[in-house]
Amino acid sequence: MKIFEILILFLTIKSSLHKQFLTLNFTARGKKLISGEVLLLLDDIKAPHLCVVNCLAFGENKCKSVNYNKKRKECQLLDENQDNVDDVNKFEENEDWIYYGQRTPKTECTLKGEASKCCIESQDITCQKPKTCSVIKSTCAHCKSGYYSMATGEKAFCDMGSDDQFIPSCKTIKDAYPESSSGFYHLGYKDNILEFYCDMTADAGGWTMVANITITSNAEAERYLLRNIKQNGLGSLKNVRSGVYTLSLGTLSTFQERNEFTEIRIKCQKTYLGFQVDVVLGYGSELVGGVTPERHVNLYRFLPSDSRHTQVSGSYKKADFANLYNHAIFVPGQYHIVINNDPNRRRWECGDYDQIQPNGKTYSPIGSWQFFVR
Ligand SMILES: *[C@@H]1O[C@H](CO)[C@@H](O)[C@H](O)[C@H]1NC(C)=O
Ligand SMILES: *[C@@H]1O[C@H](CO)[C@@H](O)[C@H](O)[C@H]1NC(C)=O
Repeated sequence: MKIFEILILFLTIKSSLHKQFLTLNFTARGKKLISGEVLLLLDDIKAPHLCVVNCLAFGENKCKSVNYNKKRKECQLLDENQDNVDDVNKFEENEDWIYYGQRTPKTECTLKGEASKCCIESQDITCQKPKTCSVIKSTCAHCKSGYYSMATGEKAFCDMGSDDQFIPSCKTIKDAYPESSSGFYHLGYKDNILEFYCDMTADAGGWTMVANITITSNAEAERYLLRNIKQNGLGSLKNVRSGVYTLSLGTLSTFQERNEFTEIRIKCQKTYLGFQVDVVLGYGSELVGGVTPERHVNLYRFLPSDSRHTQVSGSYKKADFANLYNHAIFVPGQYHIVINNDPNRRRWECGDYDQIQPNGKTYSPIGSWQFFVR
């Protein structure tokens, strides 16, 4: 007798733009699918669910199943799905590997006269003569990509196109898998793979890192002006590793339009001054756009790892989103968070100011800054 390890993973990924849910239903088996094509091979994937999340986020019309190697922590994203795991030609018995395949929906359609009922897993729609996907697409505005039963009685995968709008984020993963740990994730977006860093622990996690800057010397402070280190395109997010990276505000706006993040977190450190700022700014609808008339921050929260807020008196002000890296939060004349963009003045500030120093210390730009969105 063959022994299967059976595990159902019920995955829900929220596409915030359309307020839709993409649902996949995976079954795990202690086998490996001998696949014609491996779409992507990922190393150091610490848990099988993260392999499945990567497949899910890759786009449900591309990645259909995965092989996960428990020993090697290796994850293969596959472009085919096999329901019949007893097929000896397609499956290899291998205890190190787990195969996760998407279940084919079993719901059948009942056709009544001219009107037919089309079925998609967990969703019924009514439409006329669903002979082709384009009929469904034109008659059902809210229908999602997935398998539909056609008038012929066959099931067909219909790409409704709306998934293109969906950009996965760390919050997507955290919502789907609260136990996810911090690290780099590979996620599919259109035909590209995004790789970005997620902080999954601070303040309940789900933070996508959009800037990471480290200044270790005066020379670096002069070299790493904001305009020299900012980058365009979500594909550049993997460069946060370098420690000299900021995502351009234009790209950040695109990201925001698609996944509606409403919070920005700034974490910075000035080791020589002996403190760390860790603050969450809630922008909501005023995140993108021009200067808001009311510049007073009423939506900010210092996290427990912040060692600075208790010393700060006075009221914080904030600039608009266009000044994210330049005074996103500050107390005039005293406490500022600034990533320098002025070649004539080295202002690398983390809750300090380049003139007035706490403890009578001399100003130094040396420090580190990380920006996140959620
Ligand atoms: C997943 O598949 C199982 C077995 O077919 C089914 O009982 C369950 O309802 C499915 N879940 C979803 C969310 O479709
Ligand atoms: C941020 O930059 C620092 C300095 O280069 C680096 O050590 C760290 O790993 C980077 N963080 C991430 C998440 O890549």
